[in-house]
Amino acid sequence: MAALLDVRHLTVEFPRQGRAGTDNSPAQKLLAVRDLSFNISAGEVLGLVGESGSGKSVASLALMRLLPPQARASGEIFLSNESHSGRELLSLPDEEMRGLRGSRIAMIFQEPMTALNPVMRVGDQVAEAVLVHAKGSKSEAWSRAVAAMREVAIADAERRARDFPYQLSGGMRQRVLIAMAIVNRPQLLIADEPTTALDVTIQAQILELLAELRSKFGLTMLFISHDLAVVSQVVDRVAVMYAGSLVEMGSKHAIFQSPAHPYTRGLLKAVPTLRTDRSRPLETIEGTVPALHAVPVGCPFESRCGYRVVPCAQEFPPLVEVSPQHWARCPVVNGVIA
Ligand SMILES: Nc1ncnc2c1ncn2[C@@H]1O[C@H](COP(=O)(O)OP(=O)(O)O)[C@@H](O)[C@H]1O
Ligand code: SF4
Ligand SMILES: [Mg+2]
Repeated sequence: MAALLDVRHLTVEFPRQGRAGTDNSPAQKLLAVRDLSFNISAGEVLGLVGESGSGKSVASLALMRLLPPQARASGEIFLSNESHSGRELLSLPDEEMRGLRGSRIAMIFQEPMTALNPVMRVGDQVAEAVLVHAKGSKSEAWSRAVAAMREVAIADAERRARDFPYQLSGGMRQRVLIAMAIVNRPQLLIADEPTTALDVTIQAQILELLAELRSKFGLTMLFISHDLAVVSQVVDRVAVMYAGSLVEMGSKHAIFQSPAHPYTRGLLKAVPTLRTDRSRPLETIEGTVPALHAVPVGCPFESRCGYRVVPCAQEFPPLVEVSPQHWARCPVVNGVIA
C-alpha cells in the first residue's frame, strides 16, 4: 500500500550563538532532528516515542510547517492526495500549506488550555476551523461544529458549544480540540502528547475516544508520547527517537516483545509492569543524553551503551533490518559488526 505520509531524511537545526565576550567559538547549531525517515500508511497509527527533548515535537511541527522562523528544516515530506501524487510539504508555497493545514493534516497539542482562545466560545472556535477552509454561512459552520462536538462525545453539545474554555474541564477542553482537529476530516491527525496534561482517568477516556474515532473515520495518526504504556494502547507501529535520531522502528509487537536497540531495551526495563518486583527499584539507564549542540559523530547512545565497540564512536550507525519491517540503528547488537 502506498504511504499516506512519507518522511525522508528530515533534519531540523536551530542556530545557537556563542555568548559574546565569553565564547569566541563560531555560531553552533543545535541538531534537534537528524536524518529522520518513516512513513505511515492510510488508516495506520504510528507511535513516536522518546524521552523529553528527543525531537518529537520539533519533528511534528516540521510536518505541519509550524517551526519557528529561525529553524532550518531539510529533507522531504510527502503527503499523498486522492490521486496519490504526493505533495512535498517543505517546498510548498505558504498559501498552499495554509490550505492543507487544519484540513488535510491536523494536530492536537498537549496543553488544551493554551491551544484555545480563552475569550471565544468553544463552538465558535470549532466553527472558525470550518470557515477557514470552506465557503459557507456562519450558521452552517456552527452546525458542523456542534456535530463534531457530538462526535467527540461531548454531552449536550449544543449547549456546551456556547461555553467559554474556562467553563469546561481539562478533559472536555481536549475533546473540543479533537473536534476542531477532525471537523474537516483530515487525512492525517498528529496528536502530540494528547493526554500528558490530563489525570489518569481522563487520559483513559481520551485514548478510548481516539480509538473510536479511528475505527469510525479510518483515521491515520501520528501519535506522539514519552509514555510507552500509553503508546502501547493506541498504535500499530512504534518509532523510537533518541537525541534527535530514530533508533528503532517496528510493529508494536516487535518493539515490545523483542526490542533490538540497547536504548529501547533500557526504556522498556524502566517501565513498570504487573510482573515487576515492587520491592526493587526500577532499572534506569545510566548517564545522560548528549547535548544537541554537540551530538557525537558516531552513535548518539555510545556514551551510555554497555555493548559499545570502537567503531560505534566513529560513524553514525545505519539502520539494520533485524527482522522483516523491524529496524534498529545498531549494527553491533544485531550482528553486522562485532
Ligand atoms: N524554538 C527552539 N529554539 C531552539 N531550540 C529548540 C526550539 N524548540 C525546540 N528546541 C530544542 O529541540 C530539542 C527537541 O525538542 P522537542 O522536539 O520539543 O522534544 P520532545 O518533543 O521530544 O520533548 C530540544 O533540545 C529543544 O531544546
Ligand atoms: S551502535 Fe554501538 S554504541 Fe550504539 S547502541 Fe549499538 S552497540 Fe551501543
Ligand atoms: Mg514534545
